[in-house]
Amino acid sequence: MKSCMVQGAKIISTGSATPSVKVSNEQMSSIVDTSDEWIFTRTGIKERRLLTKYGQSVTDLATRASLQAINNISMDPSSIDLIILATSSPNDLFGSASKIQYEIGAVNALAFDITAACSGFVIGVVTAFQFISNGTYENVLVIGADVLSKWVDWSDRSTCILFGDAAGAVIIQSCSSNLNSILNFHLSTDGNYADHLSIAYKEQLDPHPILNLYQGSFQYVSMNGKEVYKFAVSQVPLSIMSCLDKLNMSTEDVDWLLLHQANERIIMAVAEKLSISSNKVISNLSKYGNTSAASIPLALNEVVELNQISRNDIIVIAGFGAGLTWGTIILRW
Ligand code: COA
Repeated sequence: MKSCMVQGAKIISTGSATPSVKVSNEQMSSIVDTSDEWIFTRTGIKERRLLTKYGQSVTDLATRASLQAINNISMDPSSIDLIILATSSPNDLFGSASKIQYEIGAVNALAFDITAACSGFVIGVVTAFQFISNGTYENVLVIGADVLSKWVDWSDRSTCILFGDAAGAVIIQSCSSNLNSILNFHLSTDGNYADHLSIAYKEQLDPHPILNLYQGSFQYVSMNGKEVYKFAVSQVPLSIMSCLDKLNMSTEDVDWLLLHQANERIIMAVAEKLSISSNKVISNLSKYGNTSAASIPLALNEVVELNQISRNDIIVIAGFGAGLTWGTIILRW
């Protein structure tokens, strides 16, 4: 912990983890009435990874991704001050971050979960940035991880073809403010459209006989695909433009566009609206599908491992999804 002062923050390491089981579009067509052609042309997805091993949960993937990020820079886990787990598929509704804290040996870290679906990682990074810039913490581990396969109705072809399981992690460290790599951010929510994408809690019809209270259980993912599509394509470019404007930057200054990996058509429509050429667009969803909070750090780790990003590159990251919530971060790498 440090005293109150304005600090910069930068990502110093990345990691990711995916299950080994791959399920292709052809295999999906033996589960529901669909085809590789339908899925690929409408979403850009070819295959997804599913966590099928009994007893494994989002915590296992998140722990693996975190350890990779830690080991890449030979960091002592006890120097991590805060762990933020962005997930909407925890294995404990009280939160899964504390289990990860134990598993990775981050004995000095506070750990908590953020539930914000596919925007969770962006909100997690912005939250980490607040704690670092006000001088509270020096080292923050932000994880985006989801296993939506456990929350999908595998007989609903309109949703089950979209999602996959994964985790991605970044370590964000305080730095002098002139080396600050998080240049700006913008976050928004419109709860009026919360029903367009949800995993709703449903109460049973019969109350407890004495207490007269209703208990229930969570349902499967339900989605109004057309409305979510329209929302993403209209709001995400506005969010990115407002962030760039405040920095006196234009889309010409952008080296990389990294959007939540929901749908290739959404990604390319946003890039087109912003006049950002396709060779600046980071995309790996053909291999993983929509991995919710994991999709951005998973794709980021991939391009970092491939050495595709150069020092000082400007990266625009934007997440969007259930809530409906969306947000942008502008980074100088
Ligand atoms: N395979 C074959 N046909 C399918 C299908 C599948 N997997 N899923 C739906 N269909 C059918 C529908 O039943 C419908 O048939 P009908 O015309 O006979 O009624 C037809 O395909 C068109 O369905 P529709 O839902 O209108 O398709 P769409 O063009 O809107 O595409 C999505 C569906 C989901 C691909 C698209 O809406 C989308 O990408 N939305 C955004 C979703 C998203 O990214 N969500 C996560 C955000 S974080």
